[in-house]
Amino acid sequence: MKILGIETSCDETAVAVVEDGQHMLSNNIASSMDLHAKYGGVVPEIAARAQLEMIIPVLEAALEQARCDWTDIDGMAVTYGAGLGGSLLIGVMTARTLSISKHIPLTACNHVLGHIYANFISSGTLPGYSFPDQIPQFPLLAVIMSGGHSQLALFKDHLDYRLLGRTKDDAIGEAFDKVAKMLGLPYPGGPSIATIAALGDEYCFKLPKAKVDKYDFSFSGLKTAVLRLAQEQIGESYEFPSYRLPERLNEAQKANIAASFQHVAIETIIDKVALAAQEYLPKCVLLAGGVAANQKLRHELQRALPCPLIVPDPKLCTDNGAMIAALGSWQYKLKLPLADPYRLTIEPNLSI
Ligand code: KG4
Ligand code: ZN
Repeated sequence: MKILGIETSCDETAVAVVEDGQHMLSNNIASSMDLHAKYGGVVPEIAARAQLEMIIPVLEAALEQARCDWTDIDGMAVTYGAGLGGSLLIGVMTARTLSISKHIPLTACNHVLGHIYANFISSGTLPGYSFPDQIPQFPLLAVIMSGGHSQLALFKDHLDYRLLGRTKDDAIGEAFDKVAKMLGLPYPGGPSIATIAALGDEYCFKLPKAKVDKYDFSFSGLKTAVLRLAQEQIGESYEFPSYRLPERLNEAQKANIAASFQHVAIETIIDKVALAAQEYLPKCVLLAGGVAANQKLRHELQRALPCPLIVPDPKLCTDNGAMIAALGSWQYKLKLPLADPYRLTIEPNLSI
């Protein structure tokens, strides 16, 4: 069964073909990230326009890379939420149109579940990808850490899950992006913070961990604590504007702040996941979402767990079409109701 997945929830236009939910035949991604860099975050209108320009070329390239034509495609899968309204609309309208005109069934996918299903892709024909050496076994814990989501879920079986906790405010990736902006580092903040943090001392500053319910997260207090720390370091008051911090902080201060922030952010995740692993005794833990690309998080989380940690190739951690095709394949296998191509609507605030 060959499924074509379409993902356009944010600033990536992504289409991929995945066979039997696990074998990746193509994975094409165009990103408008560079257009947003000077604003320090994604501008929804710019992202939607870029989606419109890129969707057809990316789709054609994904089919060609998979050496497929439309007659080879058994089903389509599209992200219908959560995400930016304008961006989601481009993917959903494209999928609806193709489903009707090519007579191909369509399944609607939750973006966050998609991130988790990147971990089920175990082989592929494209060079430059590494795949997990084990197939996830149930029950499992899924840890989703991205720019828009921070969630912990317990899966009894495929698509049979219970949400254990979520962020009460900012997502962790958002915190990385905002702290990076305060330090004058380029967007997206996750990789920039990781790079500069390697030069700093993670024990230089003691930053607070939020006190929230057992498996919930909160990262907005940490972000504010970083702002106060940076203002204090240059001898200014709380009124000093954050956009002027980068010109006043020296390189050593920036590296130490980044390292101390990253240390607490990672430790917060590890504390919660290790506790959940102790309580629910999963066979494995799946890490997903853009922040799962963070090498320090991957290493330290594995060290803290009594079971295997499965993590996708870094290119499959951030938004991509293959994760949606993989999730879609399981939705077909489990015979979930198909999407009506005449009616499918977007749900920007969809949760799991
Ligand atoms: O999953 P994703 O592509 O988009 C959402 O669904 O939100 O995640 C993007 C997020 C950004 O906040 C980015 O800063 C973060 O993932 N990120 C990282 C790393 N690479 C990307 N965060 C920490 N360390 C990284 N190496
Ligand atoms: Zn995402």
